[in-house]
Amino acid sequence: MARILITSAIPYINGIKHLGNLIGSQLPADLYARYNRGRGNEVMFLCATDEHGTPAELAAAKAGKPVADFCAEMHGVQSDIAKRFGLSFDHFGRSSSPQNHTLTQHFAGKLADAGLIREVSEKQVYSNADGRFLPDRYIEGTCPNCGYEKARGDQCENCTKQLDPTDLIDPRSAVSGSTDLEVRETKHLYLCQSQMKDQLDAWVDSKADWPVLTTSIAKKWLHDGDGLRDRGITRDLDWGIPVKKGDVDWPGMEGKVFYVWFDAPIEYIACAGEWAEANGKTDADWERWWRTDKGAEDVKYVQFMGKDNVPFHTLSFPATILGSGEPWKMVDHLKSFNYLNYDGGQFSTSQGRGVFMDQALDILPADYWRWWLLSHAPENSDSEFTWENFQTSVNKDLADVLGNFVSRITKFCRSKFSEAVPEGEYGEAEQALIADLTKRVRAYEQHMEAMEVRKSAQELRAIWVAGNEYLQNTAPWTAFKTDPAKAAGQVRMGLNLIRFYAVLSAPFIPEASAKMLSAMNTLDTSWPDDVEAALSALPAGHEFTVPEVLFAKITDEQREEWQERFSGNRD
Ligand code: MF3
Ligand code: ZN
Repeated sequence: MARILITSAIPYINGIKHLGNLIGSQLPADLYARYNRGRGNEVMFLCATDEHGTPAELAAAKAGKPVADFCAEMHGVQSDIAKRFGLSFDHFGRSSSPQNHTLTQHFAGKLADAGLIREVSEKQVYSNADGRFLPDRYIEGTCPNCGYEKARGDQCENCTKQLDPTDLIDPRSAVSGSTDLEVRETKHLYLCQSQMKDQLDAWVDSKADWPVLTTSIAKKWLHDGDGLRDRGITRDLDWGIPVKKGDVDWPGMEGKVFYVWFDAPIEYIACAGEWAEANGKTDADWERWWRTDKGAEDVKYVQFMGKDNVPFHTLSFPATILGSGEPWKMVDHLKSFNYLNYDGGQFSTSQGRGVFMDQALDILPADYWRWWLLSHAPENSDSEFTWENFQTSVNKDLADVLGNFVSRITKFCRSKFSEAVPEGEYGEAEQALIADLTKRVRAYEQHMEAMEVRKSAQELRAIWVAGNEYLQNTAPWTAFKTDPAKAAGQVRMGLNLIRFYAVLSAPFIPEASAKMLSAMNTLDTSWPDDVEAALSALPAGHEFTVPEVLFAKITDEQREEWQERFSGNRD
């Protein structure tokens, strides 16, 4: 039995995520977790909310709530939606947890001991009206290059020129609009990543099996320009993890917190500590996943994320871990995704364009979305959600192919035999089907293990189609008239296929899978290592019930209404 540690990029706390966010990390991570559990492996699947930083503070202010209350509330909201989407985290933690405070301060202390942290005095824009330092992107003004009036302090979105806030003409706070800004001197801690370039380079080189998307981004940052320059890991904010060296104060750093991108990945580890606490486990129980000196050397660790997160996971976080000099488990496989676009444009959180997780569940059950998103995962390039495509996939794959198969064979058996598996032999057609399915199941396993999400979905669909074709060709409804014994064998095969499909499909469509198993009146979810044996798991005489319709078709009216409804401005 293998041990698999899985983390999904942890979603920002401020607001509900859209479907593009979901397919970029949490959903494929869940697919992989469910698959591995289905194969009998021991899985630890962790995710959390990413709670610190200016956006969280501003979202809380906008909601009129203290930031700690806002985060606690939003954590509840995101946790509930994740459950309803079937995301099977072993723990959904919080980057603001006491465990993460302790561990983040611990890492900072180790890095300081190793001489990898230096203090830098720098100039930053302070807004008197807002009573805070403003991150570059929260300063707005006129672009000196093109005259665009809403350029941000880090970049002009009109002409794409990279800017410094001090380049802007007529700068103002993007938070309040105030022009009462001043430049103040402030001291910060920098992580000396540049000293670790060779070590990181060698580490990336050792990952020969990583997807090209992952390594090309890592290599680009390692070798192009200033990708690996030393970076500030502290901020002048109230909400965050106070800057300390282990558990002792850091002179001169009073009132400052760690930068959100420093503490967020550390939460992957801290989250396991939260899991232990929530489940009455010991430190040893979580450390066997994370410490190579305490049992984690045989763990396979896989991370899932969107491509914009890759530099933080291939360089900054590994720099933190390697720099600590301690035996923490490092990532073995890093699966990254391109972007999902929405109906001819981009998903946009600020404009409310596209479908958000809560809205998706208001109109259809999770499995419809899971199937479409996973079978169209943006793996090799960006992909696009359109309502036409969604309607076609759901109606064809789920309703016509899988749903129809289940309903047809169960109803036929009920009407011609009874609500129990009939007695009947398997002949040539069944042996041919078993041979075909054996090949396909082995291919499906290979794609799943390689985290080839689209290929896995295609193979699963082909497995459903094979059963449909078998039924079409053998046509028990015709055979029944002349050779009822033969038809009985065909029906026995059909009913066994339902259980078999339920097991194979569970990682993609867990709710439908559970309904199929319950209709087949079985708790046997064992993986079909031996396909022939699996297709005889339900013996003659085994009772079942005809399930309700598994998947309803999406009508043209629904499609048009939804397309209109989600075109923008959620509020
Ligand atoms: N919150 C970030 C995002 O949504 C991801 C953080 S991943 C972690 O893009 F590694 F930092 F935890
Ligand atoms: Zn410009």
